[in-house]
Amino acid sequence: MSRIAYVNGSYLPHAEASVHVEDRGLQFSDGVYEVIAVLGGRPVDLTGHMTRLRRSLGELRIALPMSPRCLGVVLREVTRRNKVRDGIVYVQVNRGVWRRDHPFPPETVAPSLMVTARHGLGPGPAVIESGVRVVTVPDQRWARRDIKSVSLLPNVMAKQAAREADAYEAWQVDDDGLVTEGTSTNAWIVTPDGTLVTRPLGADILAGITRDTLLALARADGIPVEERAFTVAEAKAAREAFLSSTTSLALAVVAIDDAPVANGAPGSITTRLRTLYLDHMSGVGAGDWLAA
Ligand code: PDD
Repeated sequence: MSRIAYVNGSYLPHAEASVHVEDRGLQFSDGVYEVIAVLGGRPVDLTGHMTRLRRSLGELRIALPMSPRCLGVVLREVTRRNKVRDGIVYVQVNRGVWRRDHPFPPETVAPSLMVTARHGLGPGPAVIESGVRVVTVPDQRWARRDIKSVSLLPNVMAKQAAREADAYEAWQVDDDGLVTEGTSTNAWIVTPDGTLVTRPLGADILAGITRDTLLALARADGIPVEERAFTVAEAKAAREAFLSSTTSLALAVVAIDDAPVANGAPGSITTRLRTLYLDHMSGVGAGDWLAA
């Protein structure tokens, strides 16, 4: 089946969908994006993703090129035309096409909008069952990681370092030795006394939509929660560790660098949260494309 992409007003065969050579996303990474999970053809936590998209755009003073409802129609159309039941839909908005020059182009220049969709959501059952290893790397990103910018070079370098070390993800570490987050995931531990810990929101991490949902599910389930930063040493001595994102859901981390976490198998709180999250995805989290 041929894939379809949406670029600036047109639905095109994927292979022919391209941007202008002076698109500011290409020239300056001057744009933002979202990755939204699709389950049974429906978007998961669409409202959260739309709210974050608008916030990212607002911080960079880029306009949303159409109403949220129209964007919902485009997301639905791209998902439908690609016959994606379980997968992801990707949306990028950037500052548009203009002669290469650092300041913003005139306000008459329309932002660029592109949307793609693809099949497949989350790692396979073997990975879920075994859990994954992460490596720790210095966090080399800019000071506004709360903006979901397409400028991902440090994330790309760190993820590649993880791949070359045969790890699933890299946990980035700040100058104080505290874990910020993964390259495309948020980071969590469960302390020896059973408290769920993840770094508080701020400019130093992305406000994960999955993170937000997991916190609400944990609290509703009576799991003690603390939003605070943790060190690499604390993570290595934790009872459990896991990572979260739209594409990985909640996924057990069973080793950090070369240290196993506890007995090196997914922990019970991680497994419980994953189950609650799967229920959420197919229940109240499964939304309507037009409710954006
Ligand atoms: N990544 N932290 C970073 C740096 C991310 O890029 C992401 C998402 C997350 C998790 O956010 P959410 O739960 O809203 O997916 C945390 C997406 C999936 C990506 O870049 O592909």
